[in-house]
Amino acid sequence: MANENPHADPDIATTSETIEVLHNRVSVRAFKPEPVSEAQIEAVLRAALRAPTSSNIQAYSVVVVRDAESRRRLSVATGNQPHVAETPVFLAFCADLSRIERAMRRHGHSLDDNNLELGLVSAIDASLVGMSAYLAADSLGLKGVMIGGVRNDPAEVARILDLPRRVYCVFGMCLGWPLSTPPRKPRMDYHAVVHFERYRRDGVDEALDAYDAVLAAHYRGLGKPAAADSWTGEIDTKFSRPQRDHLRRALREMGFDFR
Ligand SMILES: Cc1cc2nc3c(=O)[nH]c(=O)nc-3n(C[C@H](O)[C@H](O)[C@H](O)COP(=O)(O)O)c2cc1C
Repeated sequence: MANENPHADPDIATTSETIEVLHNRVSVRAFKPEPVSEAQIEAVLRAALRAPTSSNIQAYSVVVVRDAESRRRLSVATGNQPHVAETPVFLAFCADLSRIERAMRRHGHSLDDNNLELGLVSAIDASLVGMSAYLAADSLGLKGVMIGGVRNDPAEVARILDLPRRVYCVFGMCLGWPLSTPPRKPRMDYHAVVHFERYRRDGVDEALDAYDAVLAAHYRGLGKPAAADSWTGEIDTKFSRPQRDHLRRALREMGFDFR
């Protein structure tokens, strides 16, 4: 899929292999029953761990899960997602304050007045490594999908992965050789989300109407039923009730205090 910038000047480079990889990325949930080698996972993760990290705190850990029974349990914990059980490799991207705690203890301090900032920064750090891994994997032909369902039951996920205190799984990732690659899911209009110099406040309803129509057409093209208010309806259905109400307490018990 080509770069979609209508203003692209043919004399100025506006595309590259990386940009093409980004444009073609889609979530894949069905995999060939072929293994992914240790060397490939290591290459992907070593590259991903070059992601920037706030103040060099490296507040993340990745758990590589291949064991079928662990994947089965993770599939249940993430809301019975079949691709979690069927993927050859599941990567758990964790926020990890345990090494920071150890470093502080060496200097006579504790993380007990752990704050919102460290909780946020560790999740950002883990996400940057996760996205980098996703793209590095994609560049090898490995596709997959991120799994936020790990936050359905953070304590059970911690038990399966044997996570210590001060570590929780922010999101997981199924990775494998794609059985097929679905069409790209359209995004909202560029100008609805990119602002120049100052945030533009007009045009929001028009952008929502346009995106509802684009997404409904996309779903119908896949043979799926789609309401006219495809995106706004989905969002309302999902978020008009409290989401993962237990999360604040579960994370506090794991050593992350989002007060
Ligand atoms: C943090 C995060 C969590 C996600 N969690 C899940 C999940 O639990 N299950 C799933 O099937 N897809 C999950 N997804 C995939 C999204 O549904 C998908 O990225 C989105 O619908 C856009 O589709 P696309 O990636 O094909 O463009 C997640 C994506 C992200 C970024």
